Parts: sequence; structure tokens; C-alpha cells
Amino acid sequence: MGLRDGINGGLRVVPAWPIYLGSLGYAGWLLWLGISDRLGAEPVKALEHALGEAALYLLVAGLAITPLRRLVGINLLKFRRAIGLACFFFVVMHLLTWAVLDVQRLDRVWADIVKRPYITVGMAALLLMIPLAVTSNNWSMRRLGPAWRKLHLLVYPAAVLGAVHYLMLVKGIQLRPILFLILILGLLALRITAIQRLVRA
Ligand code: HEM
Repeated sequence: MGLRDGINGGLRVVPAWPIYLGSLGYAGWLLWLGISDRLGAEPVKALEHALGEAALYLLVAGLAITPLRRLVGINLLKFRRAIGLACFFFVVMHLLTWAVLDVQRLDRVWADIVKRPYITVGMAALLLMIPLAVTSNNWSMRRLGPAWRKLHLLVYPAAVLGAVHYLMLVKGIQLRPILFLILILGLLALRITAIQRLVRA
């Protein structure tokens, strides 16, 4: 047996639920660090940052699954739903941290979404992810049939907007948001012909 088959065979017995549990655990741990005053001088900002970054890592991981299978032959497809839903969870927690712990007033939350371009862009990414999260179940996949794959192409604009949001909000030129954007655009480029075929179909 080749190494690739061995890895794929081993992966078959690994369940996806640790991704859900790990995500809940990580968010809970961050909250705990914040509550017990171990997130530095600006705990709300640190929390926002960590939750936003977790969402970006998961976005990149989710987008990498098909190229990894195509180019390397490693099949992680069964983890993709959990990765996507965990990503959505972190984005929602990120939004809630900002709205509830940072801004703390509904009228100002709305004003910021409308007035600050980087928040508008982040919000657009979140809105695009809602139909994806809602349809990440077997029933929706069956009901939507081929339209499901088309709908889930929204993950690409959502990911690009997420990275652009990051790039817009940092001060000066910083490597991390640029790297995330390059990674996401690179993963999009790897799938571009398949995406064009899907859109035309
Ligand atoms: C896919 C969606 C999103 C991703 C991937 C994302 C990612 C990030 C990341 C990585 C940061 C950290 C920047 C830093 O502190 O250096 C950040 C900051 C921030 N995000 Fe998001 N975000 C998303 C959606 C949103 C949404 C929906 C909102 C609110 C409507 C939002 C509001 C903010 C705010 C206010 C900050 C700045 C925190 C500060 O002042 O330091 N984000 N985001």
C-alpha cells in the first residue's frame, strides 16, 4: 500500500466531530482567558482578533480541500462541512464580540456597518456565508441537487471579502492580511476552470 492510500485509509476512521468540539473549546478558552484577565491590556480587541483569525484559517483550510485531493490525492472531503460550519461560528462570535462587548449599542452597530467600509466588507462576507451555513446539511444537499454546488461557490467571494476586510483595517502594510489574501486568491485560481464550468452549466 502506498503512503497516500495509507493516509486516506487512516483518515476514514477519523471522525469530524472533534472539529466542532475543538472550535467550541477554543472559543470558550479564549473567553475564559478574557474573563480571567489574561488577554492583555485590550482583551476585547484580542478576542476579536483571535476569533477573526480563526475564521480565516478555517476558510483557507476549507478552500484547500479540493486542490489537496486533486493535486496530492489526500482526501479530507468528509471534514469540509465541519470546517465550514466552524468558520461560520467564529465569524458570528467575532461579530458578537464586536457588537456586544465593544460597541454595546445597536444604533452604533448599525451606524458602523454603514459608515466604516472595512466593517461593511466584513458584514458582506458574513451575509454571504449565511446561505452556506444554512444549507450545510444532507437534506439541503439532496433538495438543491446540482444547485447546491453553484450556491456554495459563494464561499470564494466571502473568503476574498474576509481577507480584504482584514487588509483594510490594519494600520500600514502588514504581512498577515496580505498573506491571507494571496493564499485565498491562489486557491481560487487553482479552481478557476472548474468554477467557470459550474457557472456556465
Ligand atoms: C468572513 C468574515 C470576517 C473575517 C474573516 C474577519 C476577520 C478579522 C480579523 C482577522 C480581524 C483582526 C484584525 C486585527 O485585530 O489585527 C478582524 C477585525 C475586526 N473585524 Fe472582522 N472579520 C469578519 C467579519 C466581520 C464582521 C461581520 C464584522 C462586524 C460587522 C467585523 C468587525 C471587525 C472589527 C470591528 C475589527 C477590528 C477590531 C479592532 O479594532 O482591532 N468583522 N476581522
